Amino acid sequence: MRGATLFSLLPLLSFLPGALAGHGLPRKIYGVNLGSWLVVEPWMLPQEWLNMGGENNCDCTKCIGSEFALTQANPATADKIFEGHWSSWFNQTDVDELVAAGINTVRIPLGYWIVEDLVDRDTEFFPRGGLRHLRRGLKALKKAGIVVILDHHALPGAQAVKQQFAGRCVIEPQFYTAYNYHRALVWTSVMTALSHVDPVFDNVVSIQAVNEIIMDSSKTPGYGDFQKNFVQTVRATEFLLGVAGFSTFGAVPAPHDGNFTAMIPNVGDGFFNAEVRTSLLEAFPILLKMGVFGLSRRREQLITRCALCGSFSMRADSVRASFMDVSWQWNNPPNPADAALGPQAYDNHLYYVFGGVADANEEAYMKHICNLDRVRSDAALGNSPLFFGEWGLPTQFSATDAFLMKWADAQKLQYSKGAGWIFWNFKVEKSKLAGDMAREWSYLEGVRRGYFTKDPAQYHDENVCVPYLNGASSSASATATSAASSTAAASTTAAATSTAASSTTAAASSTASS
Ligand SMILES: *[C@@H]1O[C@H](CO)[C@@H](O)[C@H](O)[C@H]1NC(C)=O
Ligand SMILES: *[C@@H]1O[C@H](CO)[C@@H](O)[C@H](O)[C@H]1NC(C)=O
Repeated sequence: MRGATLFSLLPLLSFLPGALAGHGLPRKIYGVNLGSWLVVEPWMLPQEWLNMGGENNCDCTKCIGSEFALTQANPATADKIFEGHWSSWFNQTDVDELVAAGINTVRIPLGYWIVEDLVDRDTEFFPRGGLRHLRRGLKALKKAGIVVILDHHALPGAQAVKQQFAGRCVIEPQFYTAYNYHRALVWTSVMTALSHVDPVFDNVVSIQAVNEIIMDSSKTPGYGDFQKNFVQTVRATEFLLGVAGFSTFGAVPAPHDGNFTAMIPNVGDGFFNAEVRTSLLEAFPILLKMGVFGLSRRREQLITRCALCGSFSMRADSVRASFMDVSWQWNNPPNPADAALGPQAYDNHLYYVFGGVADANEEAYMKHICNLDRVRSDAALGNSPLFFGEWGLPTQFSATDAFLMKWADAQKLQYSKGAGWIFWNFKVEKSKLAGDMAREWSYLEGVRRGYFTKDPAQYHDENVCVPYLNGASSSASATATSAASSTAAASTTAAATSTAASSTTAAASSTASS
């Protein structure tokens, strides 16, 4: 009977030929994060959080300072409370503003709980109903021509220490266990399948494995294997859907109406490891429940299209697997480039406000940003294209309007040397309680106040960095110093930032790096 129910859901899916048009990252990313939407970070909306029943400025391991805690405290009403937030924090009004600001990309932070079957409801507390809002948002973004990076921001067990952005505020992160890595892979397969078969997901160009993994790689055991399994899960799912083919994986299995359970035994042994295969097998019933079925029709269409190109191989519309870049971690980290099988992208986050990056004054900030070498040094390790998926205008000192204009220009210039940039955040709350937080944390407010140019590709002054470049006074020795100091900067930055991150997080208020 289940089959009949499923087929009755088929009208949910249409098989638009338009969906086949290859889509990818824009030539240059001018983006914003849709932060605090589907993963709420209370510090970004203090008044609304109070109204929702939360608490501010308290030790988030003990108070209602995360989605987990608010849901746990309000078991009967949490879904309704979050429903109110999801509909108002990001809707058509915001999409229209993003379009007007020339934004071409958004990164959407998501919790694992958006795949509701992954939540162990006896011990884990998260609101239900987010997927409907994600679909609503994706539909509006697609219509607006804005592409999307789905960012697994808050992972099962929580990947970060005392951070609201992990959805659950913990002292000991539990993500780095076989059980939770596995749940993250099931999530990945579900999101990959949705990205290919649900037409509202058409503008999804990338899926990001893990947001802000712990920087000290000695504290992230198993992460290197997870990187490989993540990529394989994306590609294996695409393979079964007929989106990606790999001659090395053997013959394309018969479609079996898109039934993974029936197809997997026919995929040659050893192409995908047992962990990946199990993840797909567990993703399949979840997709069925979501009404995503009848994949074979789309699959045949894809195969036909591809036959026209001569051979069945990796296609342009495979999603990019993205990761925090290798320089995000220190202590001999695994390199996500080693996991590549098909298109990838790499994400670096840079916040000066938490300390440890540059001395707390204008000159030091400008010198540091203007000589940033990360795009080149990452590329040397295969981490290309690199985008800067989080950054902001906040500083450790009181910044003038004139400085914020320079600061915005300089960061944009440097991040555009890579694939582009994605500001944190598209907006934050404007309220008495929030004070003037929007001035430096809200992109749209920054445009209104003139820190950002109306066209994100423009600058107030494209020579803003010239006076700050190492060797600007030009001499042979200056060049040598520049190379030496940028190497030193690269290695100290990771360590310093990580210290800064752990000390800021220790502060109870945790104006968190997101
Ligand atoms: C979006 O939400 C805001 C805040 O609740 C509201 O003022 C606005 O009217 C909403 N826009 C749309 C198009 O629903
Ligand atoms: C998928 O295939 C398996 C194995 O052939 C079968 O037992 C199962 O009923 C199928 N599921 C659906 C929804 O058709």
